[in-house]
Amino acid sequence: MEQVDTIILGAGAAGMFCAGSILNIAGTAGHRVLVVDHARAPGEKIRISGGGRSNFTNLATQRERFLSDNPRFCASALSGYRAEDFVALVDGAGIAWHEKTLGQLFCDGSARQIVDMLLNRMRDADLWLDTSIHSVEARADGYLVATSRGAVLARNCVVATGGRSIPKMGATGFGYDLARQFGLRMVEPRAGLVPLTFAAQDLDLCRPLAGLSVEAVVSHGHGKSATRFRDGLLFTHRGLSGPAILQISSFWHPGEEITVDLAPDIDIAAQMREQRGKAGRMAISTALARLIPARLADAIVAELGLDGARLADQANPVLERLAARVNRWQLRPVGSEGWRTAEVTVGGVDCRGLNARDMQSRDVPGLYFIGEVVDVTGWLGGYNFQWAWASAHAAARGI
Ligand code: FDA
Repeated sequence: MEQVDTIILGAGAAGMFCAGSILNIAGTAGHRVLVVDHARAPGEKIRISGGGRSNFTNLATQRERFLSDNPRFCASALSGYRAEDFVALVDGAGIAWHEKTLGQLFCDGSARQIVDMLLNRMRDADLWLDTSIHSVEARADGYLVATSRGAVLARNCVVATGGRSIPKMGATGFGYDLARQFGLRMVEPRAGLVPLTFAAQDLDLCRPLAGLSVEAVVSHGHGKSATRFRDGLLFTHRGLSGPAILQISSFWHPGEEITVDLAPDIDIAAQMREQRGKAGRMAISTALARLIPARLADAIVAELGLDGARLADQANPVLERLAARVNRWQLRPVGSEGWRTAEVTVGGVDCRGLNARDMQSRDVPGLYFIGEVVDVTGWLGGYNFQWAWASAHAAARGI
């Protein structure tokens, strides 16, 4: 039987980073690390992330950019390993990068460079790919892990098998099952950073506009507790997508409404009243098309039955209704596109069962959970990788 000090289940972002961190911490000479994954290649999600350039971190990382049932939990790991620390590694590896927007850092070249950097950093660890994990059992002398390559006995077992998103890429609920097996609680996992889908009535508007992108403010909730994102919104054949929708999808629960402002800087009602005063003979669609894309203006005017109508013939309530449709479009999604396209999983292993300092189970010594498998989910924009690096680093320091 193979014997190691630490077995890491999952060779994704968190698993690879944890292996490299253990081996780069002073005093770990001779520490044997084995990383096991059922996929044929490591770090597949890194490879496809950020459109192939990987948005590998975000300089604005702070705990408020993460969703969790236990929102303070992530702070300790995030402050122990910052975006700047990862940038120093990237610089050290000679990988060129740029800031796209809002602190989001991307490779100039290929995301593959990040995978190679992580592999190089863990070169003294063993890596078993294409290997199924049959079972994990706690024994007095450590964890007995049965794999398709044989049994392994390890003092520490780090679970880094990620969330459920994109099963085609090897995502499974393995980490959740393992957590339950060891008595840890779960926060019910759901798809996050995912396009939202709509019923026929809303689709009648979305479908003909498929491919059109506008800047929008999408909000969820009301008053002070409302969450708002201003970013791109994309009409699709199934509903709405684009960064603003992906962001709000992580906050949305079935049955709830979202509100979309399709012209965030324009008071449509005031503008239309002004136009009516100046050019009453103008068609409503023409006036609206001066303020928002013509395709969108035509679709909204048609939906409200105002095709061909002139501004001068419209009383204020009609213009208000039109304006509300643009500035305060209220929609009730029927669902999301689900695990097939979700970038992340919201929910996961309940943080209350873990120690925030080192990600170790409070009740099961030597058992660690890191990365997306934990109930910590970042906003869109490099936060999820930063959580993978930071939580992995925290566990490595604990080990
Ligand atoms: P990750 O999913 O990376 O790794 C888990 C590993 O465990 C995988 O290698 C898997 O094969 C393995 N595994 C699972 N079940 C197993 C089992 N039963 N047996 C053995 N092995 C098993 N984030 C970000 O910050 N910036 C970005 O640009 C993007 N872009 C992006 C694009 C797309 C398309 C997706 C789907 C996701 C992103 N993300 C992202 C999110 C980011 O990829 C994600 O949060 C991290 O990869 C999570 O790292 P983990 O190591 O926790 O899981």
